[in-house]
Amino acid sequence: MAQNLILALDQGTTSTRAILFDHEGRALAEASRPLRQDYPHDGWVEHDAEEIYAACVAVMREAAETSGRAADIAAIGVTNQRETVVVWDRHTGRPIHSAIVWQDRRTAEVCAKLKAEGREPRVAEITGLLLDPYFSATKIAWLLDHVPGARARAEAGELLCGTMDCWVIWRLTGGAVHATDATNASRTLLFDIGAQDWSEEMLTLFNVPATLLPKVLDCADDYGVVEDEVLGRSVPIRGVAGDQQAALMGQGCVSPGLMKATYGTGCFMLINTGEEKCVSRSRLLTTVAARVNGKTTYALEGSIFVAGAAIQWLGEGLGVTGGPRGAEALARAAKSDHGVVVVPAFTGLGAPWWDAGARGAIFGLTRDAGLPEIAAATYDACALQSRDLIEAMRADAPGAFGEAAQLRIDGGMSRSAWFSQRLADLTGVSVRRSSYQETTALGAALFAGVGAGLYASVAEAAEVSPAAETLKPTLREHDREAAYARWLDAVPRVRS
Ligand code: G3P
Repeated sequence: MAQNLILALDQGTTSTRAILFDHEGRALAEASRPLRQDYPHDGWVEHDAEEIYAACVAVMREAAETSGRAADIAAIGVTNQRETVVVWDRHTGRPIHSAIVWQDRRTAEVCAKLKAEGREPRVAEITGLLLDPYFSATKIAWLLDHVPGARARAEAGELLCGTMDCWVIWRLTGGAVHATDATNASRTLLFDIGAQDWSEEMLTLFNVPATLLPKVLDCADDYGVVEDEVLGRSVPIRGVAGDQQAALMGQGCVSPGLMKATYGTGCFMLINTGEEKCVSRSRLLTTVAARVNGKTTYALEGSIFVAGAAIQWLGEGLGVTGGPRGAEALARAAKSDHGVVVVPAFTGLGAPWWDAGARGAIFGLTRDAGLPEIAAATYDACALQSRDLIEAMRADAPGAFGEAAQLRIDGGMSRSAWFSQRLADLTGVSVRRSSYQETTALGAALFAGVGAGLYASVAEAAEVSPAAETLKPTLREHDREAAYARWLDAVPRVRS
């Protein structure tokens, strides 16, 4: 049989997964491993980079073996949690410290100081991002300044750094390839998204030596070959994209105006703005959607730090039993028009508020409000935060947005038809719910398929996007606007 399968490796925040896809985007085999989360101090989040690499190898092998089609794998596509960084020794291959995860807030003060110095407009102009600890640059500098001897070793050219794609590829290729792709680079605060190269000015500002950095390749490109011992033969890596950009591809959002939201731990909403680097006036991020054959397309992105994590909190924090199903059943039993608002700012607020010091709160409690109303308000918070992002996108990119806006959704929360309908009702846009949840892995496979020549173009690959159902808003406009007004009244009250 012809070699026409793609193995996608999805190194996510809470798990590492490999899925083997055929040319039509059908998943033939899958394997995953959970990832340990370390919280050494309040607001700090770390991952063990060695554990990540071991999990990557394990899931790739398992998916390849269980499929019985290992010999038919043409290429590997890699996608990953973005912004999370690790620094390692280029000779020993050993990380000098745990990886610092995107959720980690340890560099909040550094960011606040740079903001107070008035640096943000220039940073945004070059990188498309804002001064927030979410991004990689201040994390890299923290590692160099806090691991004894690290800065001197970095300056002597002994260390390398990278996001999880870069780390895993370096290891899989036996140290032969130190590369990342343009989408991951665009999340570091060090990359000039217009010039498509590392920015000297940002490297100086954040005090990161250029010697640490990987080369930046296209999303469909030659990332070397994995060593024989991983899959029993050498297989080329032909595609890489950050997970949200991979999901954009997996949802078929390859032309301007198409947008998707992935509801995982957080929610990441991206709208394709085409070749235009749309500058946000609403505190959204401008980011690279994809770079293929040297051609860059851009997206506006809104990042919400807590979405599915709020549903988890209902179980772990409030004792709601039965997992997400139990939480949903409880929420559906809430009295209508209860007026309760939950602002799940557990780790600060992301877009469009960007307030690292904000904390969660519940408003509007009355004597007859109970757990069902709090659960319902928690689900609604995910939808209302999405509305914030949609409003910001509408303001920033009216051309791309268009009248008949539709939001393509995936991720854990989109499994719930009830939440998906609530999302349509509270945002007022129609929601296209994918029948297949792993669009991130699918997107990575499609980029690799383009890189391996299995698809002639990104447009051809995007036709593989899975079937979906469309949900239209049914809530009365008056009720929708009343709910949003309550939300907009509550949010400023949790700001720092
Ligand atoms: O920007 C962070 C994002 O890439 C993490 O995604 O799906 O691993 O939580 P996920």
